[in-house]
Amino acid sequence: MSDAEAGLELDDIQSGVLRPRPAPYAATYIVLRIDDRKAGRELMRRAREFVTPVTSPTSALTDTWVSVALSYQGLVALGVPQDSLTSFAWEFQQGMAARAKALGDTGESSPENWEKPLGTPDVHVVLVAVSPDAERLAAAVERARKAYQGLTGITAIWRQDCHALPTETEPFGFRDGISQPAIEGSMIPGTNPREKPLAPGEFVLGYRDELGGIQKTEPEVLARNGTYVVFRKLHQQVAAFRRFLKANATQPGEEELLAAKMMGRWRSGAPLALCPHQDDPALGADPGRNNDFLYQEDDPSGFKTPGGSHIRRTNPRDAAVAGVPRLHRMIRRGTVYGTPLAAGALEDDGVDRGLMFAFVGAHLGRQFEFVQSEWINDGIFFGGGDAKDPLVGAIESGGSMTIPRRPVRRRYTGLSRFVVTRGGEYCFMPGLRALSWLADPRTKE
Ligand code: HEM
Repeated sequence: MSDAEAGLELDDIQSGVLRPRPAPYAATYIVLRIDDRKAGRELMRRAREFVTPVTSPTSALTDTWVSVALSYQGLVALGVPQDSLTSFAWEFQQGMAARAKALGDTGESSPENWEKPLGTPDVHVVLVAVSPDAERLAAAVERARKAYQGLTGITAIWRQDCHALPTETEPFGFRDGISQPAIEGSMIPGTNPREKPLAPGEFVLGYRDELGGIQKTEPEVLARNGTYVVFRKLHQQVAAFRRFLKANATQPGEEELLAAKMMGRWRSGAPLALCPHQDDPALGADPGRNNDFLYQEDDPSGFKTPGGSHIRRTNPRDAAVAGVPRLHRMIRRGTVYGTPLAAGALEDDGVDRGLMFAFVGAHLGRQFEFVQSEWINDGIFFGGGDAKDPLVGAIESGGSMTIPRRPVRRRYTGLSRFVVTRGGEYCFMPGLRALSWLADPRTKE
């Protein structure tokens, strides 16, 4: 058995790549700029002291961890040689702001409107700390801060604190963090018992993927056990979403059904696939059942879960769509920021709230970018014309959504953009040995 076919080296992969985030959780994102190459390399060396692997033979698993990721400009700032730099994914080399058009980051979401320094070449290192509570989070952030604060030439330039809402939902009010792919050799169980585990190379570099290929970088040690991570700060227009529901509901209960048809799940997390007519909160809260479904046999035309709903678009499972859904899977690590809009409020209160969306996967192009551009911002793949994702699509104005119904389908118009991009970056999250290589890029394997 070659190295590439062996099981995942969980003691060299950062926790943040594979470990499910705790629930409830608190999280902090910190962006650092490297002005001095030596200090940057020293930071990589010190990172080995606070970054933990998925499993380690010496330490018990904990629910608190800090991850370190680098943008392409970060690798440049560390002085990574040119032949290494060009061996990374092309989209990563471009950076997220340069990919704005492909991602639908236009109008209000376009990079010139992003929160600075997001989208600028100053974003070099992203530290992410995750913990079950604010106290342990603060301790983890402090450990990381000690590592970079004394280093002249390293500056913290942006920070975002996130926290689970008491309702365990994202700001629109839906339970989040339910569906994740199963991955061969990860020891981390998948959430859908009907999904065959995916090849590890879909999520971690240096292993065989679903197409039989192995992604490597120059030198090989740099990529192995690393992966790509996409961070996006997504502002949610909660009041506008509520107004849309209200304006389009003609009878009691219809608002909730309409919201569920847009998402593919009731706000409780219960999937329409399993309870199409009314919510079942116990099912929504049960991880053993709330993701146990497919679409094709039971609901090929989308009478239960519309083809255009958020979850059926972003993971069509076995539904008949153009393309192969298994090639476009992703691990998601979304965390909420901002306080919730008051219950029942229909006017915006000016508070910035939303999701720090995080994608983890080995294929930026065919996973994140494909899902964002072909599945979220287009509907051709399932026969839905040019209709975008009704909840998170880049709808400039006058968007529409069709809900299959007997005897006639129902078409809703007047959708606007409910999610606005406030910034983000494409990053590389190295394995632990690769961190040591980055501390001294001349080291040979
Ligand atoms: C503010 C923006 C967003 C919100 C509020 C949101 C919310 C949700 C919620 C509530 C779920 C269902 C619960 C779950 O399975 O965890 C979900 C599922 C999912 N979302 Fe999003 N999402 C957002 C943006 C995105 C984006 C930008 C992508 C991809 C580029 C994405 C990809 C997915 C995927 C792959 C699933 C799982 C589908 C499944 O396997 O059934 N989401 N999202």
